[in-house]
Amino acid sequence: MERWVGSVAIVTGASSGIGEGIARELVKNGLIVVGLARRIDRLNNLKEQLKNESGIFYPLKCDMTKEEEILASFDWIKNNVGNINLLVNNAGFGRLTTLSGGKTSDWKDMFDCNVMGLSIATREAVKNMTEKNIPGLIIHINSIYGHFVPTTCAETENMYIATKYCVTALAETLRLELAKSKSSIRVSSISPGVVATEFVEAGGFSDVEDLYNQVPPLKPLDIANAVLYLLSTPPNVNITELTIRPTGEIL
Ligand SMILES: NC(=O)c1ccc[n+]([C@@H]2O[C@H](COP(=O)([O-])OP(=O)(O)OC[C@H]3O[C@@H](n4cnc5c(N)ncnc54)[C@H](OP(=O)(O)O)[C@@H]3O)[C@@H](O)[C@H]2O)c1
Repeated sequence: MERWVGSVAIVTGASSGIGEGIARELVKNGLIVVGLARRIDRLNNLKEQLKNESGIFYPLKCDMTKEEEILASFDWIKNNVGNINLLVNNAGFGRLTTLSGGKTSDWKDMFDCNVMGLSIATREAVKNMTEKNIPGLIIHINSIYGHFVPTTCAETENMYIATKYCVTALAETLRLELAKSKSSIRVSSISPGVVATEFVEAGGFSDVEDLYNQVPPLKPLDIANAVLYLLSTPPNVNITELTIRPTGEIL
């Protein structure tokens, strides 16, 4: 971890849940973290909570569905914080939809954030890392649903699942693109099972109590620890996929 102290990290969706947990642990470990999200009050609150840690937290308001806001955020970071060593593409959400009757706007919103926002941020980070010859790391927060279609909720989580399948493909295609250009940038996907965050309620998915009673969910800290593990690996090791489930999960 020592070599990451003072490095610049961007965490998208740092205002709650997994992103907040990752931002917290990175700052505690001495990184300079820029947290992006729409709820700036939450980010400011997190900054206050982290003020005595060894790293620094910068809150930055950014809607990941809007390209101009993502580009402006990356410009601001390069001009005011520094070159990027680590990008954690975490911002994402799901909404209940059907394919036979769902709203186009719901489908588009999910793709704009979970796929396009992630891709635009990745492009900007890779550009900066390549230009400055930084052996950086890009981490996509994927999902177990990026790897299989669950029969229990396929009929209502279809488009969310599709966005996460995209993330699986985009992680591997980027890895190959970088490998073929002899880049030292690494790409990792972390695919969690159920984590206790605002995700389930925000998306109007299944009853939270019910879901969490089936098996105790993971905590954001469990995922943050996986990020620290990825950072602890040497530059010649590229962990491409980490699937993390709560013990006993049946999904
Ligand atoms: N919780 C789970 O069981 C679980 C399992 C597997 C994968 N995941 C993945 O983990 C990631 C984080 O989710 P979470 O569980 O931590 O949920 P969460 O607590 O609801 O957090 C979602 C984060 O994404 C941000 N976000 C959503 N839309 C955004 C937008 N348009 N622009 C910028 N930020 C946006 C939110 O910030 P603002 O609303 O402030 O903008 C928030 O910080 C997602 O990619 C999700 O798919 C979650």
